[in-house]
Amino acid sequence: MSFERQNIEKMQGYAPGEQTGSAATIKLNTNENPYPPSPEVANALQSIDIGSLRRYPSPMADSFRQAASRLHNISADQIIPTNGSDELLRLVLTTFVEPSDTIAVCKPSYSLYPVLAEIQGCQLAEILLNDDWTMPEDFSEQLQKSAAKLLMLVNPQAPTGGLLSTAYLAEIAGKFSGLILIDEAYVDFVDPELEYNSIPLLKSHENIIILRTLSKAYSLAGLRFGYGIAARALIDPMMFKTRDSYNTDQISQILATAALNSFQYAEQTCARIRKDREVLAKQLSELGFSPAPSQSNFLLCGVPESIDATKLYQQLKQRNILVRYFDQDRLRDKLRISIGTESENSVLIAAIRDILGQ
Ligand SMILES: Cc1ncc(COP(=O)(O)O)c(C=O)c1O
Repeated sequence: MSFERQNIEKMQGYAPGEQTGSAATIKLNTNENPYPPSPEVANALQSIDIGSLRRYPSPMADSFRQAASRLHNISADQIIPTNGSDELLRLVLTTFVEPSDTIAVCKPSYSLYPVLAEIQGCQLAEILLNDDWTMPEDFSEQLQKSAAKLLMLVNPQAPTGGLLSTAYLAEIAGKFSGLILIDEAYVDFVDPELEYNSIPLLKSHENIIILRTLSKAYSLAGLRFGYGIAARALIDPMMFKTRDSYNTDQISQILATAALNSFQYAEQTCARIRKDREVLAKQLSELGFSPAPSQSNFLLCGVPESIDATKLYQQLKQRNILVRYFDQDRLRDKLRISIGTESENSVLIAAIRDILGQ
């Protein structure tokens, strides 16, 4: 006899990308930042008083909220810090979505969304992206028809890398009666010339929640720190009713605050990654790959006809290079490759040349 709820018994859990303890592995499979966190974060870590850990942390992570408030020029009341941005996703579901409700997502999209929908016991409406990964023309109509309570939309999109404009997001939000979670895990990798900024949308659209994380641009995936930004009517129930009383710990609050206060460092690593993204896309194209245009820190690439994506994935793994293969419709002939350091990218290209015999 199982004690699990029926839907939990039936479901598969989320399959994270492989992690490895080996420093020799070139890890291009989970979209981590290849550069270390800022020196200010390192200093803050050195300065932590071990005795202070006797006390509970600030329940609402006040210093972090102040830092995020300054960075985004928005009231601290409109910010909720979370234990990784994955926690924000879970809070949004448990706070706003009934088990009988429908959640809409794009397909393909972040593979955690369907898992969270199953945990909550929700229906999932998957709206297929076009073959070139753009949004279908009738997206709003499909969304309306799904009667979804919540739309989860990654921007820049994952695992594809494309960027939706704020004008498009405003149009969707204006026509939709449910909530929209804009998952901006990768937003810091968008070219600044595009002047993408969704935060002003919060003034005109009270149904938008923006997700941010320190895992990518701030090189702190191991810390587990993210946050949500929205109107107070959306933040308050999560902040005061559904989150755990101390959902972020004291050490992570201190380091996350130091990271935001030294955001210029993250801007520099993101600029390097953007530059290397263009170089890597060009080199991969020359080798017969077809990388989708990306505003993120990864490239989703069709592989050359001469080799299977799984085979290439395996052969790279044998050479200690991890990339991401998705055993999923429309992705089985592709690999998602995170942008590494310049030298990691060169090792990758040399290994691919070798494997392809070029
Ligand atoms: C699209 C997207 N959203 C959210 C997350 C969660 O990030 P974290 O929980 O590390 O903040 C990820 C992690 O890879 C992601 O790819």
